Amino acid sequence: MRKPIIAGNWKMNNTKADTAELLTALKPLVKDAKAEVVVCVPYTAIDTAANIIKGSNIKLGAENVHWAEKGAFTGEISVKMLVELGVEYVIIGHSERRQYFGETDETVNMRAKAALAGGLKPIICVGETLAEREAGKTDEVVIRQTTGAFKDIDKSELDKIVIAYEPVWAIGTGKTATSEEANATIKVIRDTVAKLYCRDCAETKVRIQYGGSMNPKNAAELMAQPEIDGGLIGGASLKAVDFSQVVKY
Ligand code: PGA
Repeated sequence: MRKPIIAGNWKMNNTKADTAELLTALKPLVKDAKAEVVVCVPYTAIDTAANIIKGSNIKLGAENVHWAEKGAFTGEISVKMLVELGVEYVIIGHSERRQYFGETDETVNMRAKAALAGGLKPIICVGETLAEREAGKTDEVVIRQTTGAFKDIDKSELDKIVIAYEPVWAIGTGKTATSEEANATIKVIRDTVAKLYCRDCAETKVRIQYGGSMNPKNAAELMAQPEIDGGLIGGASLKAVDFSQVVKY
């Protein structure tokens, strides 16, 4: 009942030329996919990507967005600018942004609200660091991050929101959470949404992805878990064949 969603997070990779090459190769490989397919690309590649995936089943995403409508925010990009380019999804609160660019639960919430108000679907990232996991704080951290991200978001918006559970220690490291661990933490996140809204909302409206070294080899096992509705894919999204194999897990 929750449609699986596999999204690529290209991070700071791929020029316009690389984008054209990768998406041209990807299109035929995923055309029969049962999952929803999204590529979240750097701002500079959005226009190129939009042109290439037009008419295909690949949807377009960005990697961040600012909360203000417009104004003196040098270097930032607004919701309206993304919508104009045909962007549908936007990653918010990725751990790299939290770690290197001062993103907080509060700014994640501000970005998510602005995205929804302007018609973008946020992919909100949560997840614990290695130190937090080792201190037994995983559940506490994802509950805090989820609660913070959803502050003042109306129930009617829930079906537009995707959460990505990404244990920070599993990102780009080749280490994955076991599928059981990932499933258990995603259950904690879903229970948090249920508490904030309602059980049915959590079960039927919000999709929750796993992210962190998900690849063609482990995708099927992760996706077989009942709570895991998809993946946010970094490294393996940079190669058309690898990404298509994850999409078709
Ligand atoms: P990874 O990245 O697949 O390279 O671990 C995932 C992410 O950061 O979204």
